[in-house]
Amino acid sequence: MFMHSHQIFPSLQQELSDQYQFERVLGNGGMGTVILARDVRLDRRVAIKVLPTTFEEDPGLHARFLREARTAGRLSHPNIVPVFRADELGGHAFFAMPYIEGEDLGSIIQRERTIPAPELGRWLREVAWALAYAHARGVVHRDIKPENIMIESGSGRALVTDFGLARNDDMAIISHAATDACTRTAEGEIVGSVHYMSPEQITAGVLDGRSDLYSLGVVGFQAMTGRLPFEGSVPAVLVGHIDRAAPKVQSCAASAHPQLAAVMDRCLAKDPAERYQTGEALADALEKAMRLTGQNTFTGAPLQRQLRSAHRVVVKWRRWLNGTSGSQRKTRSINEDRAGKFFRASRSLLSAYQR
Ligand SMILES: Nc1ncnc2c1ncn2[C@@H]1O[C@H](COP(=O)(O)OP(=O)(O)OP(=O)(O)O)[C@@H](O)[C@H]1O
Ligand SMILES: [Mg+2]
Repeated sequence: MFMHSHQIFPSLQQELSDQYQFERVLGNGGMGTVILARDVRLDRRVAIKVLPTTFEEDPGLHARFLREARTAGRLSHPNIVPVFRADELGGHAFFAMPYIEGEDLGSIIQRERTIPAPELGRWLREVAWALAYAHARGVVHRDIKPENIMIESGSGRALVTDFGLARNDDMAIISHAATDACTRTAEGEIVGSVHYMSPEQITAGVLDGRSDLYSLGVVGFQAMTGRLPFEGSVPAVLVGHIDRAAPKVQSCAASAHPQLAAVMDRCLAKDPAERYQTGEALADALEKAMRLTGQNTFTGAPLQRQLRSAHRVVVKWRRWLNGTSGSQRKTRSINEDRAGKFFRASRSLLSAYQR
């Protein structure tokens, strides 16, 4: 539904009018509404996330939202969307961050279904770096999912957003406004999208950074196979994460990049001790997996050599065909046709590579 800018949180807009001009709603998530605004003093675009409930409705939630925004505000990393202001005005808690020109990974997956390994490997590595940095500061994200990974169009880099749900203690159950992506348990409310939750996050056991690595494994699984490891009703998904072995990436997508698939499979281990132990370790494994890519896909020198020699064979074959006598006309025309196709294919592959 389109909203005129004056309809977006008017009381907050009024309070902020000397600093930000609201333009439009960028999206609604489980925790708040993200608004595109203009910072009038610095003449730049910003994104403002607002907690829709008013302070009187839920003071506890407001306090936690602000506390968590401030935790995020202390993080400074090239792959984390920074928070530069967290406040409470006009009855609403909000925080301001730079507007990331681009798309969130969720929209990209929705459109493309799967993402080519070289690109995906790079984005996952950037997210792993961001997590390594946050974890080293005692901050676990807790809501790693494609919608919280922004891909900046200019630089192509991945930026993790919404450390808003992050906690720097080990309490897994947090009170939270439930949405269809979230579910309640007898003990309280579970925050985050159930599809990306680690087993220990669901069972409310002790949780550390390795939980985020599991969630990132789900993101990678989805981007490689076009489906989720556990699908169906919310209870079925929860039981799957806790109790059932995740399917291997290659069993769902036979042509998936084998090394990258193996890295994702390990992230999805039920037991955190069997996963990569840190974001750095995951980033290293991703780097190694992508280095191996160079030997068997379109990005490495060995492939260029193979293509060149294949192209040379085709050139020779064509020459031979052109010299063949008329008695072999039929075979020749068939072969010529095939050779022509192969010739054009090998030439375009070579030129694509050399570009
Ligand atoms: N800094 C930003 N710059 C540009 N767009 C953003 C920014 N932050 C969020 N968005 C967009 O707004 C959408 C809604 O974000 P929001 O965080 O409210 O929802 P969500 O990520 O789907 O769920 P959750 O509340 O669980 O994080 C995002 O999916 C993203 O496309
Ligand atoms: Mg979000």
